[in-house]
Formats: sequence, structure tokens, C-alpha cells
Amino acid sequence: MIPQSPPARDEVLPAGNGLSLDRLFVDRKSEASRLRVVTVGHVDHGKSTLIGRIFYDTDALPEGKAEQIQKACQAEGMTFEYAFLLDALLEEQEQNITIDTTQLPFQTKKRGYVLVDAPGHKEFLKNMVTGAASADAALLIIAASEGVREQSRRHGYLLSLLGVKQILVVVNKMDLVDYSEEAFDAIVREYTAFLQEIGLTAVRFLPVSAKNGDNVARQAREVMPWYSGPTVLDALDDLQAPRSEADQPLRLPVQDVYRFDQRRILAGRIEAGTLRVGDTLSFAPGNRTGVVKTIERWHGPDRAFAVAGESIGITLEEQLFVERGAVASHKSDLPATTTRFRARLFWMGQSDLVVGGRYRLKLASQEAMATVAAIDRVIDASTLSVSDTEQTRAARDDVAELVLETDVPLALDPHEAVALTGRFVLVDNRITAGGGIVLEPVVARPSGKSDNITQSQGQVTSGDRARRNR
Ligand code: GTP
Ligand code: MG
Repeated sequence: MIPQSPPARDEVLPAGNGLSLDRLFVDRKSEASRLRVVTVGHVDHGKSTLIGRIFYDTDALPEGKAEQIQKACQAEGMTFEYAFLLDALLEEQEQNITIDTTQLPFQTKKRGYVLVDAPGHKEFLKNMVTGAASADAALLIIAASEGVREQSRRHGYLLSLLGVKQILVVVNKMDLVDYSEEAFDAIVREYTAFLQEIGLTAVRFLPVSAKNGDNVARQAREVMPWYSGPTVLDALDDLQAPRSEADQPLRLPVQDVYRFDQRRILAGRIEAGTLRVGDTLSFAPGNRTGVVKTIERWHGPDRAFAVAGESIGITLEEQLFVERGAVASHKSDLPATTTRFRARLFWMGQSDLVVGGRYRLKLASQEAMATVAAIDRVIDASTLSVSDTEQTRAARDDVAELVLETDVPLALDPHEAVALTGRFVLVDNRITAGGGIVLEPVVARPSGKSDNITQSQGQVTSGDRARRNR
């Protein structure tokens, strides 16, 4: 019943399917529509094996890779190790420096995915906190043979911290507990109670043997007749798709202003949303408005609209004094314009981050000097221990939740709403010392003084928003 080697490739793959390493290269455009899934779990509970298995079962492997691993395993007198597949993929990716080694694409019949591998707490936190690898969903793996362990809890806590709300709990190594329903149920009970404590609910619990492929891509009724739920791949396909960047509120940070003949061309990359000729744009900060007359492209189609990801130039009906750093959006869904906001930051500076410290802040095409107004709590990235009281400093590799105050107003969004105008870096002595995401603009100063925020989002009713965002 337990296969000692993977099925012959012909059984699972149509012959001559043209698989190549190209399949691993994430096309940045299609990346946006892919569901981003992070895998977490206690050491040795089977993350790599599950990923290897998913790649094998969805044909996401370069040709010959499985055979190569199988030979290597046989030479060592071992059974086939799916975890080695992942290592081999990562190794190959590392040789191509343009590729992020921690992001692996695969495809089901329904849609594309990117698996965000988390080599360790620190890298995981850094990638997630800086928004470099925000995830739409998580596979949290618990080995049935060992049960809920320390990191099973810590990683669950991490997910809640990072706002990852769609969690699939994979109860792995079911083969080692004789596929027992009782063993599975006990873990479901224990971990559900834990998740409840930290304000999370799992979408599902799935009994799996990653090694044997049971309930990964194929249902395993023969060994677990008591389970009638979906496989891991089906459960992934049932998750909510991320909102497409083109459907988000328009955010066009102005990168440069060019003069051609009599025309002023505002150039930039559309970070989110869709822009059309004839649209009335509002430029923050300042909120001057202008109507789009033309969309200029240096290459590419001559179209009267442009979407997230495109670098374009625009001209306006009237001449408008707009500078580099301004952010164009639609009046119906403006960013916040503020000098104070709450953020979560991964600190990698040589010296500590301190309250009162001054750093250069870069957000989209905007730059400003920023002061650390308060540090609300600090999370140690290695131990994941949390200080919940107010702090005066954070050390290298800490995650800090803090309030930042900028010298001039910035146009920004909570990262949850618009990712690209919701993330920033802090520069200390010309070195990037921190990366973070915007949690929310701060509306009132603790002293009760009036603040500099123009929270324009209030003009949009939740009904408007729901209709527009479907
Ligand atoms: P780290 O990356 O070190 O945290 O481990 P991991 O979570 O990636 O675990 P990995 O996939 O390397 O698996 C650890 C060991 O468990 C390997 O020897 C796997 O062969 C074994 N293993 C993984 N899944 C299963 C399973 O479903 N059944 C059995 N019997 N063994 C498994
Ligand atoms: Mg691993």
C-alpha cells in the first residue's frame, strides 16, 4: 500500500509535456493573480515533504528532477524523499540570481499559486513584515505522530500577527498513527482551542500523509474511509482569491515630470487600480485635481486605459503643478494623507531603533524624514517572545510596532487595503535599516492637539466600496 518510489512519470504526466526550468520563473504579471501560500509548522513535521509532493503531483517539476532524486535515494538505500525535491529546486533557483529563492510557483486546474517557503523565523518575519512576501493563506503542518508542539503554536501566533486569515491545518504523517480518526480528532480539538485563544479559526483540518500522497492531490478513502472532506489541493482551490491589483483603488505615484513641447507629462508606475482617459485625478498630498487628457506609452499598445503594473505617462487637460512624489488617485477612493501612522517594522539596522530617532522614510515615490514617536511593542524574531509594554528601543532582527511621524504629509494606505502604498523602508546613514508596513493612520494625537490627517476615505460609504470592489 505504501509506495516505495514515486509512480513512473508516465502514469502521472502526459509524455512530452515540455516541462522545463522555465516553469519555475514567476512571471511578475501573472504573479499578482496567484494565491500566495506560506507553509509553516514545527521542525520535521513535514513542510518540505508536503511541498515536494505538491510539486510532484501538479507537474511543477523540471523534467528529470524526480528521476534524479530517486537515483540518489536508491544509491543511499533510502526510500524516495520528497523533501529532497524541494531542496533540489531551491538549489537550482539559487543559481539564478534574479529569482527569489523562497517563492515557488505551481498550478492546479483552477488557478496558479506561489508557495512562499519560510526557511526560518527570522527570514519569514522579515519577508512578511516588509511586505516582500505577504501571504493570502497558510498551510500549517502538524505531525499526527508528535501532535501540537511549541512551534505549531508560535507559528499560529505569527500568522495572527501578520493578518493571514485563511489557514489550512494539515495533520501530516497520518500513516505513522495507523490513519487513526481518534488521533486526528484529538489534534483538531487541541489546536482549535489554541487558535480560538489567539482569535483565529482554521478554514479546515486535513488528515494527510505527505510521504504517501494521501489526501494531497488524491483522496485516500482506502486508508481513511472515515474522511470525506477535500484533499489539500481541493481545499486550496476553495480558498478566497486575492483581490486583483487592477480592481483596487487607483494609486499612481508620480516618479518624474517631463516637459515635451508645451506638454507636461507625469510619469510613474501604476501600483494599484485602473486609470482611464477622462478620469478626474486627485493628487495627494494637497488634493489638487486634474482630468486625464492622454495616456502616453513608450512601448506597448495605444489604449485609453492603463492598469496596475504598467509604467506610463499622462497629460492633463489643464496644466497643474504636480511634483515627483505626489500620488494620483480617484476622488472616490483617496489614500490617507497624514504625518502620523502606526506601523509594523522589521529592524535590521546596525544600531538600535530608538524612540526619538530620525530616519529617512521612503514610501512608493515619496520621501520624508521621520521620527519614531513611540514603540508600542517589540517581538524578538528568533524566539518570537513579545514585550507587550511600551519600549524605548528595538534591536537588530526585532519586529517593532511603532508610531512614526513624518516632517511632511504623506499619501499612504493601510497595507491590508493597498499593498504598494502601504509599505515603506527606513534609511539610516544611507543604509536600508528597516522595512515595514502601514497598519493605520493615526487620527488623534495623544495630547489631544489637532492632527494633520485628512482622512478622506470617510467620503466613501461602505456600500460604495462593496459595490465597487464586488
Ligand atoms: P524542517 O525543514 O527541518 O523544519 O523539516 P520539515 O518540516 O520540512 O520536514 P521534512 O519534510 O524534511 O520531513 C521530516 C521527516 O519526516 C523526513 O524524514 C520525511 O521523510 C518524514 N515525513 C514527512 N512527511 C511524512 C509522512 O507523511 N509520513 C511519514 N511516515 N514520514 C514523513
Ligand atoms: Mg524543510
